[in-house]
Amino acid sequence: MPSISTKGKNMPESPIRKLVPYAENAKKNGIEVFHLNIGQPDIKTPGVALEAIKNNTIEVLAYSRSEGSEEYRKKIANYYKSKNIEVNSDEIIVTTGGSEALLFAMGSITDPGDEIIIPEPFYANYNGFSIASGINVVPVISKIENNFALPEISEFEKLISSKTKAILICNPGNPTGYLYSKDEIKKLAKIVKKHDLFLIADEVYREFVYDNEQHHSVLNDFGLEDHAIIIDSVSKRYSMCGARIGCLVSKNKEVINTALKFAQARLSPPTFAQIASEAALETPQSYFDDVIIEYKTRRDTLITELKKIDGVKVATPKGAFYCVAELPIDDADNFAQWILEDFNLNKQTVMVAPAAGFYSSKGLGTNQVRIAYVLKKEDLIRSVEILKAAILKYNAN
Ligand SMILES: Cc1ncc(COP(=O)(O)O)c(C=O)c1O
Repeated sequence: MPSISTKGKNMPESPIRKLVPYAENAKKNGIEVFHLNIGQPDIKTPGVALEAIKNNTIEVLAYSRSEGSEEYRKKIANYYKSKNIEVNSDEIIVTTGGSEALLFAMGSITDPGDEIIIPEPFYANYNGFSIASGINVVPVISKIENNFALPEISEFEKLISSKTKAILICNPGNPTGYLYSKDEIKKLAKIVKKHDLFLIADEVYREFVYDNEQHHSVLNDFGLEDHAIIIDSVSKRYSMCGARIGCLVSKNKEVINTALKFAQARLSPPTFAQIASEAALETPQSYFDDVIIEYKTRRDTLITELKKIDGVKVATPKGAFYCVAELPIDDADNFAQWILEDFNLNKQTVMVAPAAGFYSSKGLGTNQVRIAYVLKKEDLIRSVEILKAAILKYNAN
């Protein structure tokens, strides 16, 4: 029997998707499942994006340029200018989702055995992308008591070695919802310059910021032209997860030239989806204003309801649409499976993502779950009711 690679064996299952078979089973048994586990927004994709595909008269669905179509990249550069990010179209590589941008970034700057420091908990797929790239994640722990703020810079300093190539942040954070302050980005800028590291910033949730706070991009005005790599995506911004379009942005020419070689190897990003994504850039500001109001209401509802449950600890997110909640249970993996397999409240249950998969330190996050507030207010209220009843029953068993 030919054997599987160690890398393949070490690839983690997605903590977001691994419980899907249990949810499917529950549904087959007539149970309604509220999906709090996945960042699939229920918000409508902007009409301009969908119309651009419907009204298209393409006769040959050809490859595009490897770095993405020129017209699209020019328009993305204009979008960044509106965010005080001064980049040209040749500093952007269009990718098949932010996921591919992450792989290209890691591929372009690391060799097997190299290390990337990431504040944890972090987007679970960073683990998978790191394994696929043959590199090691070195976690620096951020704490729920602190709302998952940036850990002290001295904690990063302790972890930097000759193998360290980059610090990777997600801003605003998935799963924490934490929004880094200008001062925190300044501190990161200082340390990456001091140690000559890259700063990869996953900014796919840039638009989702609440309470009149401001998002600070690593390419704003921090002097990080040689160091910063932005990971971006249309998935969440325009509720277009299925388009599979993202981009990698850097003012460092070597990074772009190298990432382009990875892009050439996979030929091109999807053509139709680029047409939709280009059109999506015409989405009126009122769309985002409405979306932000909707998510803010959902966040406030979710956090208020969760805080009513005895023993639940939750950090209030300032951005994205997730929160990490600590539950009064022993093991969130068991709990999340049990709630789908053996529990329902009047034929309804919920699916949550156990948070351990968002950490790379073993033993952390075992009693935490990530909750995505991508459902409407009434469903969130009902979901927390179900969660509360489930916690009581689980602990009584
Ligand atoms: C933080 C973060 N980065 C990147 C991605 C990848 O998104 P996509 O490949 O759909 O652009 C996601 C998706 O959920 C995410 O949450």
